This record gives sequence, C-alpha cells and structure tokens, in this order.
Amino acid sequence: MTGTRRLDPAAALVREARRARGRAYAPYSRFKVGAAVLAASGAVVSGCNVENASYGLSICAERAAIQRAVAEGRRRLRIIAVVGGRTGVLPCGACRQVMHEFGITHVVTAGPTGPHRTYALTDLLGHAFGPADLAAGSPRRGRR
Ligand code: THU
Repeated sequence: MTGTRRLDPAAALVREARRARGRAYAPYSRFKVGAAVLAASGAVVSGCNVENASYGLSICAERAAIQRAVAEGRRRLRIIAVVGGRTGVLPCGACRQVMHEFGITHVVTAGPTGPHRTYALTDLLGHAFGPADLAAGSPRRGRR
C-alpha cells in the first residue's frame, strides 16, 4: 500500500498546479487557477488561467497547460490536476472536451491546501465526441 502511494502521481501534479496557480493572471475574475498535466512520457507541464481585458479571450488553466504540452510535442496525456481557490474546483465543459482529445483519463482537483480528489474523465464527460468519432463518420470519403 505504501509502495503504490509513492508511485501515485496525483500529489506531485497537485504540487505543480499549486505553483502554477501563483502565476495566474486573473485581474478581472480574481479567480486564480493552476493546472499541471502528466504526459505519457512522464513529463509534467503546467499552466494557469490568463485573462484579458476583452473578457472572452481569457483561457482556462487546464487548456493553457494542455496547449503548452502539445506545443512541446507531447500529445499523449494522462492525468491533469486543477487547483482553484477552494477545494474541488472542477474543469469547465470546454476544458473537459479538450482533455478528451488528448487522452486524459483522470482529473485531480484540490484547493490551495488540503487533500485532493480524483475523478475519471468519463464521469465528468459522458459519451464524449472525439477523434475516433470523426474517423468513424467518414463513409463519404471517396464519394466527394
Ligand atoms: N477557470 C479556469 O482556469 N479553470 C477552471 O476550471 C474554471 C475557470 C478560470 C477562467 C477564468 O479566468 C476564471 O477562472 C473565472 O471563470
């Protein structure tokens, strides 16, 4: 049991997400969020929310981390940790969809201190549309 605990990457991801939250740019909502994503390679990539005076251009911490991972060449992602200003902040629907795109299976949530909780992405985004559906939905290929 203690052996598996040490291998559990969730605590390390939460630590990174907390660090990234300190870099959040959220002068409008004042709702700072940090995220850290674990790639299949073992690399950890963090992100924070970055808001804009044109509010709609703001980006969530989760997508900032995922986009950074992809820009670094890491497309196979596994687990993402999200840290908000209270215990258990959960990702928005847009972020859940982007997580699905890159194979994330688990979402860990935590506050600035205290315990974390892990959710399966399938529980947060049921019956998701994804890359496999596009491949399956191309019967017209060759006809157009
Ligand atoms: N936000 C995140 O970064 N992640 C979440 O999971 C929830 C919301 C950001 C977006 C915006 O900058 C602020 O929090 C308030 O919605």
